[in-house]
Amino acid sequence: MVDLADPADRVVCNMEKTMIQLKGIRKSFYEGTANELEILHGLDLTVRQGEFVSIVGASGSGKTTLMNIIGLLDRPSQGNYLLDGVDVCAAKDQELSHIRNRKIGFVFQTYNLISRTSALKNVELPMLYAGISRAQRRERAKELLDMVEMTERMQHKPDELSGGQKQRVAIARAMANDPAILLADEPTGALDSVTGRKIMDLFHKLNREQGKTIVLITHATELAAETDRIITIKDGNITGEKAGGGIYAGV
Ligand SMILES: Nc1ncnc2c1ncn2[C@@H]1O[C@H](COP(=O)(O)OP(=O)(O)O)[C@@H](O)[C@H]1O
Ligand SMILES: [Mg+2]
Repeated sequence: MVDLADPADRVVCNMEKTMIQLKGIRKSFYEGTANELEILHGLDLTVRQGEFVSIVGASGSGKTTLMNIIGLLDRPSQGNYLLDGVDVCAAKDQELSHIRNRKIGFVFQTYNLISRTSALKNVELPMLYAGISRAQRRERAKELLDMVEMTERMQHKPDELSGGQKQRVAIARAMANDPAILLADEPTGALDSVTGRKIMDLFHKLNREQGKTIVLITHATELAAETDRIITIKDGNITGEKAGGGIYAGV
């Protein structure tokens, strides 16, 4: 019998729950004009809760376009999308922003931090939008910066931080509202391999210790190989899927 009070059983249940379900997703730009261009040609993708999935493919194959749809930053032209059981295609823009703010944390290659303000304030910002009190925002932002080992530099502005440090702040920010899903678009793309390794270790930690569902776009095949499942995209189609090694087996 499954005992939900038993953490071991809980993990099994989580792995069976579907977090992201895309069916027949098409995306065209310049819709309804003579220049209409279909970029995604009918994608099916299911990601279970707690899974760490990577998406690989050449530049221009549609990875970011797909990520924007998964992250509710853009809508598909056709197809169905259930996010944690909710039909997000039917949701209005305002509901979508609400779901996005609560459920999804984004990490980008270029960090996308606000340059005029401190690391601490950058991490607090998503919580401000979520209506969390000032004191709670500050406390949680400090905890998150501690988790990514950025406590000593929390008062620094992004310009005063290295690429790896900026990305650690960006991961803390992505975690601000305790999202179920982390979406990372080439998060190590601008970093040297040692720094990239540390960022990857952080994702493994968040996946294993906090059960975050992670979708990682990467050019680095050796990093993709560490995830549970590797999806290959070519010219707007999913052309391959294979199991990865799962958890990071390094030191
Ligand atoms: N907003 C847009 N308007 C028009 N074309 C776009 C837009 N976004 C992406 N594209 C085109 O879609 C294709 C896939 O882009 P993208 O999803 O960014 O690929 P990847 O992330 O795999 O490099 C490219 O040919 C790109 O030029
Ligand atoms: Mg891209």
